[in-house]
Amino acid sequence: MMRGIEWETFRKLRGSKKKEYFLRNGNIFHVIMSQQFDRKFLDEICELATKIRGISKGNKGVRFLQSLLQGKRAMLYFVQPSTRTFLSFMAACQILGIQCSEVRDTSTSSEVKGESQEDTVRTFSSYVDLIIMRHPQAGFAERIAFLLNQIGRPVPVINAGSGRDQHPTQALLDIYTLHRSFENYGGIDGKKIAFVGDLLRGRTVRSLAYLLRNYKGVKLYFVAPKDLQMGEDLKEYLREQSVDFEEKDDLEEVIPLVDAVYMTRIQDEYDEAGESKRIDYSKYHFKREYLKILPPNAIIMHPLPRREEIPVEIDEDKRAMYWRQVRNGMWVRVALIAKIFRKDRDIMEY
Ligand code: NCD
Repeated sequence: MMRGIEWETFRKLRGSKKKEYFLRNGNIFHVIMSQQFDRKFLDEICELATKIRGISKGNKGVRFLQSLLQGKRAMLYFVQPSTRTFLSFMAACQILGIQCSEVRDTSTSSEVKGESQEDTVRTFSSYVDLIIMRHPQAGFAERIAFLLNQIGRPVPVINAGSGRDQHPTQALLDIYTLHRSFENYGGIDGKKIAFVGDLLRGRTVRSLAYLLRNYKGVKLYFVAPKDLQMGEDLKEYLREQSVDFEEKDDLEEVIPLVDAVYMTRIQDEYDEAGESKRIDYSKYHFKREYLKILPPNAIIMHPLPRREEIPVEIDEDKRAMYWRQVRNGMWVRVALIAKIFRKDRDIMEY
């Protein structure tokens, strides 16, 4: 189990090599990056999420779910802005009977006395059974998972967004949304998906692109201004995994070709000198006229929050899936936490 390995050595390993380190007794434990998931896991999580939705429709089912992890405690360490992901995780914990505590603002924590963030997190790992964290720094969740493994403290860490790098649970809910949308249309295999906007700094797109290598014959279009195109590291990964992709800058040209359009906002919180202002982002908005050229079974996705990328009138179109993504997120997170604590068998047998 790579005990004794130095952080600097570990950090540089490929995702596929790190995967082992995020397991415990062969079961998923830490959820850090999309590269750790395979097709079997993705199929299981979708099936489990659907089963949980069904169970939760009755009072008896609600009580059953709440009994599963009663007495467990989770810490939500969210030191970067969040509404959806935070609430969705909190609701997911509550559905399973887990109690939550939270840190959202480091200005009231001992970090102001000079304590390192590592020590802060190590401290609350003594009080809880699960740590869910959002952090502006890429690799922070991974570092904490590494640290807890090294000191032998068995508390799982879930990455709820790590800087510009990854947002693996958003990617899982996106997969679940695609899975449900194409259930009667041959599934996700063979589908064409356009990612639109700030692909350089949008972590949700990165995490989803990593997951899509698990599906056969998918084609990805990266539609972005030149300065915000997908990072070279991810393109390299896709080439190695033989995932077909193409870079584009004209959204209108791509819309008629795809099964899903994944819109994103400009991630200007990562600007160093207001560089986003120089970009004409309106070319990467989903215009109302596009509804006519979007294929009838195609779907429109967005991780939210949105700005002007999608006008609100489009919400009425049956192909708009972003509000459904929000709802799906909660169920997928219930499924994920249930899997981490090995309650999936009990649920499937209910
Ligand atoms: C996304 C994020 O935080 O990366 N939001 C979310 O969790 N749904 C997308 C974004 O902020 O643009």
